[in-house]
Amino acid sequence: MRSSSERFGLIINFTDSLPALILLQKFFAFQPFEITMQPIRAGERIYLILDHHRKWIRTANPTQQFHSDKGFIDFKDVIGKHPGQTFLLSPYHRKVAILRPLLSDFIFHMKRQSQIIYPEDIGSILIYGNARPNSQILEAGTGSGTVTGILANFSQPDGHIYSFDIRESALKQAKKNIEHMGMKEHTTVDLGNILEKDYNFENINFIMLDLATPWLAVPRVKKYLDPVKGRICLFSPTLEQVKKNINALIQNQFQWYKTFELMKRFYQVKQNATRPLGRMVGHTGYMTYGAFSSVDKKLQEIGFDDLYSPENLGNLFIYAQFTLDRKILILTKDRSQLQQILTLWFQNTNNITFQDISNNEDMEDFSEVAENQDTSEFDIICLDNCFSEPLFSKSIGILTQTPPEE
Ligand SMILES: C[S@@+](CC[C@H](N)C(=O)[O-])C[C@H]1O[C@@H](n2cnc3c(N)ncnc32)[C@H](O)[C@@H]1O
Repeated sequence: MRSSSERFGLIINFTDSLPALILLQKFFAFQPFEITMQPIRAGERIYLILDHHRKWIRTANPTQQFHSDKGFIDFKDVIGKHPGQTFLLSPYHRKVAILRPLLSDFIFHMKRQSQIIYPEDIGSILIYGNARPNSQILEAGTGSGTVTGILANFSQPDGHIYSFDIRESALKQAKKNIEHMGMKEHTTVDLGNILEKDYNFENINFIMLDLATPWLAVPRVKKYLDPVKGRICLFSPTLEQVKKNINALIQNQFQWYKTFELMKRFYQVKQNATRPLGRMVGHTGYMTYGAFSSVDKKLQEIGFDDLYSPENLGNLFIYAQFTLDRKILILTKDRSQLQQILTLWFQNTNNITFQDISNNEDMEDFSEVAENQDTSEFDIICLDNCFSEPLFSKSIGILTQTPPEE
């Protein structure tokens, strides 16, 4: 039996009875549910967490060391170990946890050459933009490459994103960031002014515009879009811009359009003191979406707009990195809406295991489910709409985005 710190995974409780999607990340001791992940390889990017404030993403180079003010470790001691373990820094014996970074972690650590779009907004861009696997995507401006790298990841295996910016300096940094995200092959990033240059694109599935005057680009880029299913997103921080964006969509025959912004409120979760934190993210930018026809009817029929809102689904996709190259276990009830939505979204669900737990909601039965299931090497476990008090409290108890013990 491995020590508890070696068990690793991601639990998500995705239920309509909670005010928000709760993501429980990342390493936990769960008896007897044991999850292992691929050991860390030489040259891989790793996420080192000392405490809430001190976190680093570094390359595990076997000939180098990681140094901080609290001590150092040799990367060679980390290589071959499972993510989720803690290591002692020499000479001060402070513990550092080592994880495999998700793209959402990477966003907060990468070097920037511009204002960026944050994961929550990217989650909804993904869903409202209908940026599914194999999508062809056009973007301007690239900025720091944040949206580029993430959309590229979600459009795998055969999708591609073409991204343009007018600034060489932005492109230089964006290319490095995209390479760090492992998305170089899925992107074409180039110098170009979307307001002036004509391209030969056709049947693009999604166009993403994040520049100061996106409305000016609409008449030129609309011809690149798939005339039936194509979608566009115009991201702008002010309402003055939003008005112009909507006018441009109306004048250019977009039948369906929608504008909203997302606000993010964090929660303090403590025994008898669970409440919102005083500070919140009140404004990032307005997202205006346009399409030539109404939203996907099949998704609507499943109830996509009520129980599993696109925003929640976007959050789930981004923060759990719900991509087809990751192994996902979903504990669900009665072929749930989530199962139907994911099947429709991904088409190919070979890497997703749906385990029906309709009659297995308490902890013991859950353990049985776990025993009957080969759980080795799952990257994500998702508790879909199964609010089981023991299971949930156990999950909360083992939750650690928190740093390792002192
Ligand atoms: C806010 S940044 C984009 C950030 C990006 N979405 C991210 O999250 O990393 C806006 C970018 O648009 C670029 N830009 C401005 N006008 C443009 C144009 N006409 N064509 C292409 N890019 C443009 C700017 O140089 C800038 O890098």
